[in-house]
Amino acid sequence: MADVLIHNISLLATPQSADKARQSNSVLRIPRAAILIQDGCITDIGHEAEITARSPAGIPRYNANGYLATPGLVDCHTHPIFVGNRAAEFHQRNAGKTYLEIAAAGGGIQTSARKLRDASPEQLIQESLPRFHRSLTCGVTAIEGKSGYGLDWEGERKSLLALREIGRQIPQHLFRTFLIHALPSSYSDRRADFVGDVIENMIPAVAHDKLSESVDVFCETGAFTVDESRRFLTAAKNNGLSCMVHANQFGHSGGAFLAAEVGARSAHHLEYLSDEEIRALAAAGTVGVVLPASVFFLGNLPYPPARRMLELGMDVAIATDMNPGSAMTESLPFCMTAAAIYCKMTPEELLNSVTLNAAKVLDADSQIGSLETGKCGDVALWNVPDLESLSYHFGELRAAAVFIAGRVVWKDNDATARY
Ligand code: NIG
Ligand code: FE
Repeated sequence: MADVLIHNISLLATPQSADKARQSNSVLRIPRAAILIQDGCITDIGHEAEITARSPAGIPRYNANGYLATPGLVDCHTHPIFVGNRAAEFHQRNAGKTYLEIAAAGGGIQTSARKLRDASPEQLIQESLPRFHRSLTCGVTAIEGKSGYGLDWEGERKSLLALREIGRQIPQHLFRTFLIHALPSSYSDRRADFVGDVIENMIPAVAHDKLSESVDVFCETGAFTVDESRRFLTAAKNNGLSCMVHANQFGHSGGAFLAAEVGARSAHHLEYLSDEEIRALAAAGTVGVVLPASVFFLGNLPYPPARRMLELGMDVAIATDMNPGSAMTESLPFCMTAAAIYCKMTPEELLNSVTLNAAKVLDADSQIGSLETGKCGDVALWNVPDLESLSYHFGELRAAAVFIAGRVVWKDNDATARY
């Protein structure tokens, strides 16, 4: 827990929790700003002259060099626990095969599951760790990570334990999710047994051993039906775990309605989403998480109707979906660019979507997601001239420096060159 006065910020841009309660996606902009962090928490924030005048004498100072300051970004949907890669499948898709055809032939998620099964726990941790570091360099101070390539209990437990160990080694806040992703091949002719096992054994064990805070289910053709997903999510709630749904990625799967029905905190993907489905999600207060990198990378799906979701009163978050099959990237700024172009989101909406709204998905919006007094001292500094430029210089942008709880945890040595 550190004390620091971050000064010489040319522009500070942040959502505000009070605005969020009114469902606005506005951004507070303070030129020539400073942030006072004490004991890891923000204790004062505002115009530099005022903040420095009332800061305690002798507090360590950090010169932000005229950079833009935003809250540390929050990536609320990633699948970072895997070994090997699926570059060959990427090129098969580009040669004409679809994601679903590759999956139906035993590839896709099953390819990653075979590789994970053969990996030692140490190898799984060592291959997964650098993904978290790359995410940090993109300004991400809080990250959600899912299991989901283990499939059976042995593999899922190995994945969740790897996540727990990684959480001890990285500076970011890490939120763990147990993802029920696909039927393990060992259960291929025992589907009902697997569903029963998940409900009676796996979810209770995850809760008992505190292996994750949330349960997510891939509710889609080729994965799990609405009925199976409903049973998983009900078990999750009964075990005190919160619910997420991978919904409506390849069609109107029923996943979005199910997310609303069970009061899931968030519904993710939503490439296919009708007004009726949006209204149900809005009424349930479910956050819509759009994953533009996976639409980009799969190449043949529509982008989610984020504009309509916003118009009809939903909170929208943006995440990377970082995974070896459909979104091989750690760059949340890239996802902002894609959401700007294809979802027509404004710079203010983009910032809210990767900070405060994403924190809401993780039920952490009272501690992170905005630069406000009382919140965690998680700050990203960017060598860009303004907020608009955060989504403009695509595929390249790294943070100039990143603070978590007031401590510098990443610094770009090339940051003197402006993006
Ligand atoms: O969110 N859609 C399901 N799961 C992941 C992809 C998993 C994979 O292909 O490895 C996703 O896109
Ligand atoms: Fe995903």
